[in-house]
Amino acid sequence: MNESLKIGGLALQSPVWLAPMAGYTDLPFRVGIRSLGGLGLAFTEMLSPETLLHGRPSSVNSLVATGPEDQPLGYQVYGKDPDLVARAAKWVEARGAALVDINMGCPQKQLSAKGRGAGLLRTPDLAVRIAQRVRESVRIPLTVKLRLGWDNTETAAELAVRFEELGVDAVTVHGRTRAQGFSGTVNLDAIRKVVESVKRIPVIANGDVVSVATAREMFERTKCAGIMLGREPLKNPWLIRDIARDLRGEAPLPPPAIVERVEFMTQHFERMLAFSGEAVAVIRFRKWIRLYLRGIPIERALLARLMQITTAADWRREVPRALGGA
Ligand SMILES: Cc1cc2nc3c(=O)[nH]c(=O)nc-3n(C[C@H](O)[C@H](O)[C@H](O)COP(=O)(O)O)c2cc1C
Repeated sequence: MNESLKIGGLALQSPVWLAPMAGYTDLPFRVGIRSLGGLGLAFTEMLSPETLLHGRPSSVNSLVATGPEDQPLGYQVYGKDPDLVARAAKWVEARGAALVDINMGCPQKQLSAKGRGAGLLRTPDLAVRIAQRVRESVRIPLTVKLRLGWDNTETAAELAVRFEELGVDAVTVHGRTRAQGFSGTVNLDAIRKVVESVKRIPVIANGDVVSVATAREMFERTKCAGIMLGREPLKNPWLIRDIARDLRGEAPLPPPAIVERVEFMTQHFERMLAFSGEAVAVIRFRKWIRLYLRGIPIERALLARLMQITTAADWRREVPRALGGA
């Protein structure tokens, strides 16, 4: 397996990617996880053309915020109107995106039932037209992220062949169908069929990588060129570093001590504070407290109190202590 990876003209230092995740993979989190090392590519959350082209500038700026410490960054767009998606892709290219990705995998009903996201797996010709229009409109590398199929496991392989022919530079496959949602297991054989169906473009495998062992299994069983991790790094941001070390044949590092975890979380909070302002940051960070608390025993009453904190001063006084780091 490759330790590095090239997507179109973009050389990545690692084949381990962080998945786009709406509400989570924003600038404050991405900067933190990148600082741990091992990450080849991260993404914005999925962005609608309507928002990018006509949204309130402050909301748009927050969705696409990035900086030198957050590179390379892929911007993910979604939609079902080829011209609109292409305009959105041009917009993100002008904004400095290293790569643009088209979402053809989101199973959420509001999107997929209306033919967007994974809904495009039911209209493969339209999916191809969208990718084609985007390809004609931008010069930066273009990738597509998709599920195996709407309710079958073959569409991804068929589409990947057509995408490759029209100049898509890589595809990412979440090894579940739209019908599965997040249930059941990831179908590694079906991802492998996608890998075998294309001639030369890299296939990035996604779904249920939760450890160094499952990362190895994903590479070995699917023969993918890279892997993308979503949910697990939210709970264990060190996992991407650990997998990248394993790929390079380096010895595993000990898991981070509690003080290190608390320090990482605190820096994440401080970045979110600077990014969103106090009122929003303390509320938005509540879901992260739960994630960072994983594996740390804490009384229910204390957790309830942490969830009611409304000022940065209280946060700094109470949260690190509750996690055992101060
Ligand atoms: C909260 C949440 C938000 C997500 N948002 C997006 C998104 O914006 N775009 C996308 O392509 N996939 C999105 N996904 C799917 C993930 O990118 C990924 O494909 C999926 O979680 C499977 O990978 P995992 O098993 O490593 O989590 C989201 C998933 C979750 C749990």
